[in-house]
Amino acid sequence: MLVDGRFIASPPAVDSTGTSTDGLELRPPITSADWERYYELRWRVLRAPWEQPRGSEKDDREQDSFHVGLWDLTGKPVAAGRVQLNSPMEAQVRFMAVDPAWSRKGLGSKILAELEAHARSRGAQTMILNARDQALPFYERHGYVTSGKAHALFGGAVAHVRMKKQLSGGANACRSESA
Ligand SMILES: CC(C)(COP(=O)(O)OP(=O)(O)OC[C@H]1O[C@@H](n2cnc3c(N)ncnc32)[C@H](O)[C@@H]1OP(=O)(O)O)[C@@H](O)C(=O)NCCC(=O)NCCS
Repeated sequence: MLVDGRFIASPPAVDSTGTSTDGLELRPPITSADWERYYELRWRVLRAPWEQPRGSEKDDREQDSFHVGLWDLTGKPVAAGRVQLNSPMEAQVRFMAVDPAWSRKGLGSKILAELEAHARSRGAQTMILNARDQALPFYERHGYVTSGKAHALFGGAVAHVRMKKQLSGGANACRSESA
């Protein structure tokens, strides 16, 4: 079928909760409208619940980071994430955000796998991140281990722990950790 001028090979499947996930497209933001929607998702998920202003969902590493989203058929991102290189050997995931209406459908896992693949392709051996308490089980599920404390955000309202994962170790090891 044709949707917005693009050919979609088959109608999207519907999962047990009645929400389609097959029609989502995994890709970086491209157009200015994409970028606006991408940052709006970040702000809505990661900043608005703590009454943080628009703009607080960005930092000074946006330009030299790799960004990816899962986009629905209307061009809206429903999940997003970013990875930056801290050094030639170390990469860092930041700003992972899944629209709450789409949580626990495997979208965060797809984003994280793509960020890890990108970091590997750039030669990174280790991935680090600062995980919110509520996201800890998600990252543990993907092979990350706690390596220390990290700063709390918003005056201590959102605690973080530093987590780490070795990206080296062979394609099979990576695949088994990426649902
Ligand atoms: C954390 C987050 C990115 C996870 O994305 P998601 O799409 O919901 O996660 P997935 O569906 O890919 O989860 C994969 C697995 O991780 C684990 N997991 C994910 N969320 C979990 C939770 N809240 N509690 C326990 N385990 C969880 C489960 O094992 C899950 O597999 P299952 O659903 O088959 O049991 C998403 O919930 C989110 O954006 N949260 C709010 C913002 C945030 O905390 N971002 C991270 C900043 S550090």
